[in-house]
Amino acid sequence: MVGDGNPVVTGTRIDDPDASTWETATGNDPAGMLVPLPVSVREEQAPTWHHAVILDHRPIGDRYRFLRVHAPSIAVGTRAGQFVMITVARDNDGPVLPRPMAVYRTDLVGGTLDVVYGVQGQGTSRLASFTPGERLLVVGPLGRGFHLSPRTSHALIIGRGVGICSLSMLASDCAARGTGTHVVLSARSREALLGAQDFRSWGIRDLIESIDTEGTSDPAHLHRHLLGQLDEQPPEQIFTCGSERLTRVCTVLGQRWGAEVQVSVEAHMACGLGYCHGCASGAPGTASESPLVCTDGPVFRWEPDTRALAGTSPQVR
Ligand SMILES: Cc1cc2nc3c(=O)[nH]c(=O)nc-3n(C[C@H](O)[C@H](O)[C@H](O)COP(=O)(O)OP(=O)(O)OC[C@H]3O[C@@H](n4cnc5c(N)ncnc54)[C@H](O)[C@@H]3O)c2cc1C
Ligand code: FES
Repeated sequence: MVGDGNPVVTGTRIDDPDASTWETATGNDPAGMLVPLPVSVREEQAPTWHHAVILDHRPIGDRYRFLRVHAPSIAVGTRAGQFVMITVARDNDGPVLPRPMAVYRTDLVGGTLDVVYGVQGQGTSRLASFTPGERLLVVGPLGRGFHLSPRTSHALIIGRGVGICSLSMLASDCAARGTGTHVVLSARSREALLGAQDFRSWGIRDLIESIDTEGTSDPAHLHRHLLGQLDEQPPEQIFTCGSERLTRVCTVLGQRWGAEVQVSVEAHMACGLGYCHGCASGAPGTASESPLVCTDGPVFRWEPDTRALAGTSPQVR
């Protein structure tokens, strides 16, 4: 699962070898680093585990599945942009590594948390075979989520594909707080578009649907559209997940408007807890290890940078 299929974050630096014609032709190709958010905005609740009963599990749209589990101790501490690790194994299955999933929504009264996922490989295929009443081992809340500044009066949220699931609680928080919020939701097709109905029901009124098959999702179109709508009264913070190309639109607009850009990124994760270091966003050849996506992220702040880093790793969803 990887956003729109062409993203690469190199080390903690966004470095897109397939920079689109929009970026190269317009010079909209700012080099940047993804840096951890300050420790002062770290999430407070330590992770806990729960043998969570599945309450609801069904397909949504043509690509995704909705999963609701009962996990009150996790739901109560989960903040926007955090994730859980789900072990997808029944009692008689052998050892299996858990899979990371963003928390789409929580219900504190019912003690539930929702996840929306796409079937990719073995783990998610097996997850799709679980039925209501069965249990899953869920660990969370994990990672450092989005930080919505109390000073922010206007926010822009841009999500694509399953990356939208990392932004849903943030949109709901913005609406609840009365923050003026523009949202762009992007997908390959209308049938694959996640969240639009939910976001509207939470109170998001300014919502743009940006769809490949309708020709409304390319960066040039979106950049133009957002400039037209927001240039006079720009947002102070921009939040994104799900696409390298849309992240670039965010960074270009962020630079123009002096707005902070926060990006949720993805990496392969074995533990999600900071133990295995498999998710280090690594820059080979450097003395110190790069941030861990699971504990220093998955949300990072984008900062302009011109340094050339040779490295590999986490992928922007
Ligand atoms: C913080 C975080 C939050 C996530 N939230 C969601 C979510 O809300 N919904 C959702 O559908 N998915 C989400 N994912 C991705 C999800 O964890 C993977 O799709 C899942 O682990 C794949 O497991 P699998 O066993 O089905 O596939 P595998 O058999 O492990 O992999 C199938 C294919 O997908 C690739 N792949 C697997 N995991 C990743 C990854 N992390 N990054 C890039 N490529 C990968 C593999 O290389 C392989 O090509 C999230 C990942 C992270 C790190
Ligand atoms: S997944 Fe193990 S340290 Fe991040």
